[in-house]
Amino acid sequence: MCGIVGAVAERNITPILLEGLKRLEYRGYDSAGIAVIDSDGQLMRLRRSGKVAELEQAQQQEPLAGRIGIAHTRWATHGAPCERNAHPHFSSNEIAVVHNGIIENHQALREQLKGLGYLFTSDTDTEVIVHLLHYKLHEMGDLAAALKAAVQELHGAYGLAVVAASQPDRLLAARSGSPLVVGLGLGENFLASDQLALRQVTDRFLYLEEGDIAEIRRDSVRIWDIEGREVQRETLQLQEGAEAADKGEYRHFMLKEIHEQPKVVQRTLEGRLADDQVLVQAFGPQAAELFAKVRNVQIIACGTSFHAGMVARYWLEGLTGIPCQVEVASEFRYRKVAVQPDTLFVTISQSGETADTLAALRNAKGAGYLASLTICNVATSSLVRESDLCLLTNAGPEIGVASTKAFTTQLVGLLLLTLALGRSQQRLAAGLEAELVGELRRLPSRLGEVLGMEKAVEKVAELFAEKHHTLFLGRGVQYPVAMEGALKLKEISYIHAEAYPAGELKHGPLALVDSDMPVVTVAPNDELLEKLKSNLQEVRARGGQLIVFADEQAGMDKEDGVQVIPMSHVHEVLAPIYYTLPLQLLSYYVAVLRGTDVDQPRNLAKSVTVE
Ligand code: AGP
Repeated sequence: MCGIVGAVAERNITPILLEGLKRLEYRGYDSAGIAVIDSDGQLMRLRRSGKVAELEQAQQQEPLAGRIGIAHTRWATHGAPCERNAHPHFSSNEIAVVHNGIIENHQALREQLKGLGYLFTSDTDTEVIVHLLHYKLHEMGDLAAALKAAVQELHGAYGLAVVAASQPDRLLAARSGSPLVVGLGLGENFLASDQLALRQVTDRFLYLEEGDIAEIRRDSVRIWDIEGREVQRETLQLQEGAEAADKGEYRHFMLKEIHEQPKVVQRTLEGRLADDQVLVQAFGPQAAELFAKVRNVQIIACGTSFHAGMVARYWLEGLTGIPCQVEVASEFRYRKVAVQPDTLFVTISQSGETADTLAALRNAKGAGYLASLTICNVATSSLVRESDLCLLTNAGPEIGVASTKAFTTQLVGLLLLTLALGRSQQRLAAGLEAELVGELRRLPSRLGEVLGMEKAVEKVAELFAEKHHTLFLGRGVQYPVAMEGALKLKEISYIHAEAYPAGELKHGPLALVDSDMPVVTVAPNDELLEKLKSNLQEVRARGGQLIVFADEQAGMDKEDGVQVIPMSHVHEVLAPIYYTLPLQLLSYYVAVLRGTDVDQPRNLAKSVTVE
C-alpha cells in the first residue's frame, strides 16, 4: 500500500528518497512522487504514474536537489491512479504533504476549504490536508502548531509527512492509524512508513505511537503524544542485515521466499522447544498463567493469515478439544459479538499493521476477552505492541506480495500454540506432544525435500497457462490449504480460482466442471482419503482434468485426465504445512508462464493499512 519516505540532512537527499521508494515498491502502488525544498528555498516536485523507475528517469531529465524533502508511492483509494492524483500534494507552492490512509470527512472539509477560496487540483482525500494545513499555518505561524490543530479536524486514518518552504529546516510527521518510523542518522534524520525504506542509511529507529506528532530536524527529533505532552520514544538498534532488498540468485522474491522456508521454519522453532515439549513462555511471561485459564479461542486475521487460522481451528479442536472460532477481521470488527467466557483473542498477521486486524484487536479490548495474543512476523508492529502475548514467526522480511514463508511459519506458530495450550490444560493425548515436537524438529529438512519437486510442478504449470478458471479441492484440514492455493493462483496469475471442500462439489460447483477446468487437489493419506477419492471420481465422470498432489501411499494412479504428483508420506498433523509448498510453486510457475508481475501483482498491496 502507500509508502512514505522523508529526509532532512546536510547533503542532497533526493537519492535517499528515491532509494527509499524503491525499497517500498514491494508494498504495491500505482504512482510515485517526490518534493524537496531547493537551494533557493522553493518547493519543487516531480510526480509520475506507474513505477518509481519512471520517476527516477524524470528526475534525471529535470534534476531536483535539496536538503529536506518527502516522497511517496500511492495506491489509489480516492481518485484514479494518475499523475494529478499522485502525492506530494501542494498548497500554494508553500506546503507539501504526503499521506497514507483515508480521510473519511474529506468531502465536508473540501467544501469548507473551497468556501475559503482554496482551489483543488486532484480528486484525492489527501488534498484537503494540505490546504487545511496551509490555512492553519497562516493563522498560527508555526508548522508544528498548525499540524497539531489540523489533525484535530481529520477523521479517519493517516500517516503524514509535511514540509513547508517557509520553515525549511524541519520535517513534520503525524501518525494515527498508519505506521511511521523515524530513522536516526549522524547529523541527519529520516522518516518512513516502513523501516525497510531506510535500511541503507541507518539501523537506529524510533517508532511513532498512535496520535504522535513529530518534528524532525537534522540534529533533533521532538515528539508529542496524543495529549500534546512532549514524550520520548525508545530508540531501537536493529541487528538484522539488509537481506530483504536482495533477490540473490532468484528471479523473483517470491521464489526466493518459497525456498527460504526450511531455514525460516527452523528460526520459528528456535528457542521454542525443550526436549519433548513446547516452551509455553515462548508466548510471553504471562502465558503459562493465562493458558491454564483458556476455555475458548477466537482467531481473527485477513487473507493468507486467515487461512492459517482456519488450519489452526482443526488443530485446536481436533488435538485439544478447545473450541475455536475463526473469522475475517473486516467482518468481525463490525459485528456484535457474544464473547464466551475465558476466550483467548488471537490475531495472525505477517505485517502486524493490517488495518482491519488491528481495528478488531482494538475493539476486542474491554469486550470481555481473557487476553490477546498475536502471531506476527514484525517485532516492532502495532499488533505486537498492542497485544498482551506474542509469538514472533521470525520469517524475516517478506517482499513478494504473495505470502509464502509468512504462511508456513504462521502454521508452525499455531501448532506450537495448540500444543502449549493443550498441555497447559492436560488435554493432549499421552505422548502426542513429544511425537509432534519430534516431527517439528524434522520439519525444516523435510520441507527442503518437498522443494525437490520443483521441476515436476513447473511442468504441470504448463497445463494452466491458457486457462481462465480453476477449482481447488481439499477435505478436512486440507480445505484451508486448498483455499490458500486458490488465493495464491488468483493473486499472481490472475486466473479465476475457487476453493471448495471436496464434499461440497455436488451441491453446486460440479456444474462448472468440464474438460477446460483444471481441478487441483491435495490428497494426503489421512482418514478422509477414501471420501476424497469418491469426490474426484465425480470430477472425472464429468471430463474434468485432475491435478492431484497425492501421498505416495494413497493409491492414486496417473490415468487419462489425471496427473498425479507424488509426495512422500508425512505426518497427518503436519500435512497442511507440507502440502502448501507445491501449491505455492504451482502458482509461481503459472504466473511466470503468463508473464505477470509476480512480486507486485496488479491492484494489490503487501500491507493493507487502510480499510
Ligand atoms: C496473501 O498472499 C496476501 N498477501 C494477503 O492475503 C495477506 O495475507 C493479507 O493482506 C493479510 O496480511 P497480514 O498477514 O500482513 O495481516
